[in-house]
This record gives sequence, C-alpha cells and structure tokens, in this order.
Amino acid sequence: MSDPKKLFIKTYGCQMNVYDSERMAEALSGNGYVQTQSAEDADMILLNTCHIREKAAEKIYSELGRFKALHDAKPDLKIGVAGCVAQAEGEEIMRRQPMVDLVVGPQSYHRLPAMEQAVARGEKALDTDFPEEDKFEKLKARPKVARGPTAFLTVQEGCDKFCAFCVVPYTRGAEVSRPADRILQEARDLVAAGVREITLLGQNVNAYHGAEGGLADLIWQLDKIEGLSRIRFTTSHPNDMDQALIDAHATCGKLMPYLHLPVQSGSDRILKAMNRKHTAAQYVDLIARIRSVRPDLLLSGDFIVGFPGETDQDFEDTMELVRTVNYGQAYSFKYSTRPGTPAAEKAQIDDGLATERLHRLQALLTTQQRAAQQSMVGREVSVLFEKVGRLEGQLIGKSEYLHAVHAVAPRGDIGQIRKVRIVESVTNSLGGELVA
Ligand code: SAH
Ligand code: SF4
Ligand code: F3S
Repeated sequence: MSDPKKLFIKTYGCQMNVYDSERMAEALSGNGYVQTQSAEDADMILLNTCHIREKAAEKIYSELGRFKALHDAKPDLKIGVAGCVAQAEGEEIMRRQPMVDLVVGPQSYHRLPAMEQAVARGEKALDTDFPEEDKFEKLKARPKVARGPTAFLTVQEGCDKFCAFCVVPYTRGAEVSRPADRILQEARDLVAAGVREITLLGQNVNAYHGAEGGLADLIWQLDKIEGLSRIRFTTSHPNDMDQALIDAHATCGKLMPYLHLPVQSGSDRILKAMNRKHTAAQYVDLIARIRSVRPDLLLSGDFIVGFPGETDQDFEDTMELVRTVNYGQAYSFKYSTRPGTPAAEKAQIDDGLATERLHRLQALLTTQQRAAQQSMVGREVSVLFEKVGRLEGQLIGKSEYLHAVHAVAPRGDIGQIRKVRIVESVTNSLGGELVA
C-alpha cells in the first residue's frame, strides 16, 4: 500500500467552521488522506475560511501568497479553499491565485471526495452550490475513534434573518435544521468516543426546528443520554429565545449556565437600521426574564460599533445597555462593509471615530469581564478537565460558566468533572485547587 497522503487544514472563523473542518478531514480520509499539523509536510492544504469582516477575507489571499513558495518547491501540492470566502468569491479565488486547485462552499463539502479525485487527475474543481440534498446525509458516518472530552455538533445551518451588515445569509444559505434522530445518534457516538460535553452549533441555533418543540426539546432529548454531562449551544438570536428554552436553563441540570446572546447595539434607531427586529428595551427585558430563572447565568454578547449613521448618542445608548446588562464575556467589532449587504450602500462613518468608540466599549466590557472573573474567587465550581496545563502537574478545563480554570490535578482527571475552589483570577483564566 502506498503511504497515506497528508492533509493540512487551517480553520478560520466561527465554531461551525471548526466542526466543518473535522467533517472535511473525515470525508477526505476515504481518499487516503491523514491529517498533519504542518503545512510543509502536506500533500494538500485546505483553508477553511471566514468572510464575516473584510480583514478576515483579505487574510486568506495573503495566506495563499505565503503558500506560493511551498507550491513552487512541491508542484504536486494541492491547494483548496473551503468555507465562507469560497462561497462568496467562488471562481474569483482561482483567478486571483491560479495555484488554487479546489474551491468548495460550506453546503457542498460532501462532494469533496469526488472533487479531490478530479484534482488528483490535474483538473480544477469548483463547487459553490446550495444543493437540494442534505450534506450530512451524504457524508459517510463519523469514524469511531477516541476523542477529547468536548465536541461541537452542528444542528442548524444558515440564516434567514438578513441583518443589514451580515454576509452569513449569503454564504451559508437559508436556515436548515438537521433531524433530531440524526443529531441524537451523532451525540451518542460522540459520548461513546469519550465526549462529556457537547456544544450544539448553528448560525441561529435557537431557531432550530428539527424537533417539534424546537431547541429546548432537542436539549431535553440529549439530556437523557447517559454519559453526556454537559450541554451548551451557540449562537442565539434574541427573537428566538422562547420560554421553553429559558425554562430549560432553570430545570435542565446538564444545560450549562452560560448564554451567548448578541445584541449588536443599544440604540433603537441603529437596531432598526440593522434589521435586528427588536428594541434595546425588549433585549434588556429578555435578559431579566432569563436571569429570573437562572440568576448565576454568565451572559455573553456581540457588539458592532460604527454602523453607518451611528451618532454619539447611539453609541452612548450602547454603553448604557452594556452598563445595564453587565456582561461576563463579550466580543466587539468595528463595523466592516461587506459587499452585497444592504448596509454596504450607506455612507460610512469616520474610521477614527469608530476606532475610538470601539476602544471605549472594549474598556467597559473588559472591566465587566474582569469583575465577573474576580467574583468567582473563593467559590467552588465544577471543572471538566480537557488537557494538561503549561505548568508541571497542572490541568486545564472549563467551569460551568465557560471560564478557563487551571489547577494541580492528576492526569487521570482529564475527561472528569471535579469540584475546584477558585483562588485567583488572572488575565484570561482562573486558578483553583481541587476540593477533596
Ligand atoms: N448569528 C449570530 C452571529 C453571527 S456573526 C447572531 O445573529 O448574532 C458573529 C458576529 O460577527 C456578529 O454577532 C456580529 O457582531 C459580527 N459581525 C457580523 N457582521 C459584521 C460586520 N459586517 N462588521 C463587523 N462585525 C460583524
Ligand atoms: Fe448574521 Fe444576523 Fe443571521 Fe446572525 S442573525 S448570522 S448577524 S444575519
Ligand atoms: Fe465566518 Fe462563515 Fe462562520 S463568515 S463567522 S465562517 S458562518
């Protein structure tokens, strides 16, 4: 038998891309590929890309430029581009960078094995369809190999919301939910492979409708899987947070007290221009309802500053909303014009002003995040240990609130949930001691 060919995948963007990269590697394993961690070793390089902000897309072209030398040294090296840039740019990628052999969109990567064969024959392969068939049904079953304690599981894809700034509805297509029985089977297989915590993924995961009672119903079905200890989900839209899902945060013991619920802006005028279809007050009220059933829930959010037309007052409204809500964790971005989206047509605000606002918002969010971490000191949390830490004898894992926690613990505790008393808060993690 010939030596296996080596595949190097580099993943950008959201967790859904992380999941897709795993599935793409699995799909190509049937063509004789094994994964390598080094581009220099690879027979095929696959970039799984993100198009969400301008810088993300530009990064791909400069990354491809860097692979040019590798390609010159090894003319048989195959180069592929997958993910959201592949979907948005399509053939343009091969025009700008002729050494690219393969371009595959996020909805058609089940066709990768056939595309790879074409590429092996020296052809170019391009597929950016939104096919009728369900790619998950067409992909071969996931291999039953031992896995780490945490895993992602995509349950919903695409988006019908069309926020005025966002490319996702164009790169990922319409909202589709996977059938519950398939998800449950995949979850059981993951648990059999050693997984203790599953994060359900979707661009709008709480719009999931593959089970009669939506995402809450799916969570309750997953709750019954023996050996599965923790369930998380991301990313949610405020308008799809139904009462059953809110209640699950109070009553489902496996559902972790962490919620990523992006609001983007605290100004009603801007929310309307963004087509978010809710007001700031409705969001604040929703948070109050969630916290009333689960007071310790750690809340995370996304913000965009400098959306076209954003005035000083609009920005102050965002700052005010942040002060009111008090986030444990958050991501904030400067608005980035995306070609083809409605907001791209509008006059942009001054870049320096947007940068200044971003810094002010980030300072506030960082203060809140530090305070949330600091408030954990002295408390006991449950940590699912995932791997060894940087210091001798240390393990690292996540608390139920998704804080990274390091503590001295036996190696055998990897994959176990242990009680840990938090003793210190450092920049991006918490230090703790095992509770005997
Ligand atoms: N589906 C999720 C988020 C998807 S994109 C939701 O509805 O909230 C992740 C985050 O990227 C968004 O929440 C938003 O804050 C940010 N983002 C999306 N498009 C952007 C753009 N054009 N410029 C800057 N940030 C953007
Ligand atoms: Fe983008 Fe809005 Fe859809 Fe989120 S809900 S993916 S921000 S269009
Ligand atoms: Fe990026 Fe596509 Fe995810 S644009 S954020 S990789 S859905």
